Amino acid sequence: MNILAIESSCDETAAAVLSGDPKNPEKSRKKLESSVVVSQIDIFKSYGGVIPEIAARSHLEAILPVIDKALSDAGKTWDDIDAIAVTHTPGLLGSLLIGTLTARTLAILHHKPLYPIHHLKSHIYACWLEENAVPTFPLLALVISGGHTQIIRMTKHNDFKIIGTTRDDAIGECFDKVAKILGLPYPGGPSISKIAKTGDPKKYRLPHPKLTSDPRTQNPNNPAHNPELDFSFSGLKTAVLRKAQEIAKVPISTPSYELKNLLTETQKADLAASFEKTAIDILLENLEKSLTLYPDTKSIVFAGGVAANNRLRESVNFPANISINFPALKFAGDNAAMVASAAFYEIASGIKPSNPYSLDILPRSVIK
Ligand code: KG4
Ligand code: ZN
Repeated sequence: MNILAIESSCDETAAAVLSGDPKNPEKSRKKLESSVVVSQIDIFKSYGGVIPEIAARSHLEAILPVIDKALSDAGKTWDDIDAIAVTHTPGLLGSLLIGTLTARTLAILHHKPLYPIHHLKSHIYACWLEENAVPTFPLLALVISGGHTQIIRMTKHNDFKIIGTTRDDAIGECFDKVAKILGLPYPGGPSISKIAKTGDPKKYRLPHPKLTSDPRTQNPNNPAHNPELDFSFSGLKTAVLRKAQEIAKVPISTPSYELKNLLTETQKADLAASFEKTAIDILLENLEKSLTLYPDTKSIVFAGGVAANNRLRESVNFPANISINFPALKFAGDNAAMVASAAFYEIASGIKPSNPYSLDILPRSVIK
């Protein structure tokens, strides 16, 4: 079976072709035939962040050439394609619309079954593109992206229980905001990592959040949710701002955009390194807590753009009987190969395709 997947949830337009036999998912080898990603980062660098309207227009320009290239790189024609998969939730409304409407139209035109895919599910399934080291169940997936920070327990394919989540900012968003304070280009994660390499991660002490487990913080719709495993990153972002003001010896009323001109390169590097270390320590502390609550865990899966972070990859240290699964660097950020991988396991689990005439997009939704 050849799956053509499309991704356009934020600021990357992507398409990929994956082949394999979902009737025999454990034994057959999947093969990624092609993966094309066109990023809008260069457009948004000058704005310091994504402008949804511009992102949607750029997707519109790129989407058909990207799909054509994915097909031709794979050496396939429409006759060879057996299914279409597309990210339809969550993400930016206009961006999701372009990918989803394109996929719907192509599914109708070429008479192909259409599989709508949840974006976080595809980030998790990026780790199943690593044929030689796929995760084992039960597992804990740490989803760390620009919009999400969650710990998800999976006991089998397509079974997701959110056990911890952020109460405010996502970790990637926090990297992006701290980068802005330090005057570093968008996206903040790679920019922070780059200058943090030359900084001292122990130079500045930054706080770890102290979350209450007040019963009101329990998600009433999700009995698996444990408020003690929640995250909070907005306080860390403010702590970096206050520390930057303190180092620059200016009052706390000083606007954040002035700080980049008041800090030396060494101060910026030390602050970036201290922030990066604190953010990663917070992630790993929560994962350790989760492991004690779920001692049957066999794998830990890292998913989402922040999983590209080098310090995180180097800091991970769990018992040897637990496999650690990171996506390949090229599949940590948004791409369509991971969408195809998620669709492959949906098809393998017998999940039915959707109606291409009515499939809707959902800018916000919980993984199910
Ligand atoms: O998964 P992703 O590509 O898009 C979303 O689904 O949000 O994640 C994007 C986020 C951005 O916030 C970006 O700053 C962050 O991932 N990121 C990183 C790194 N590379 C990307 N954060 C930390 N270190 C990195 N190396
Ligand atoms: Zn993403």
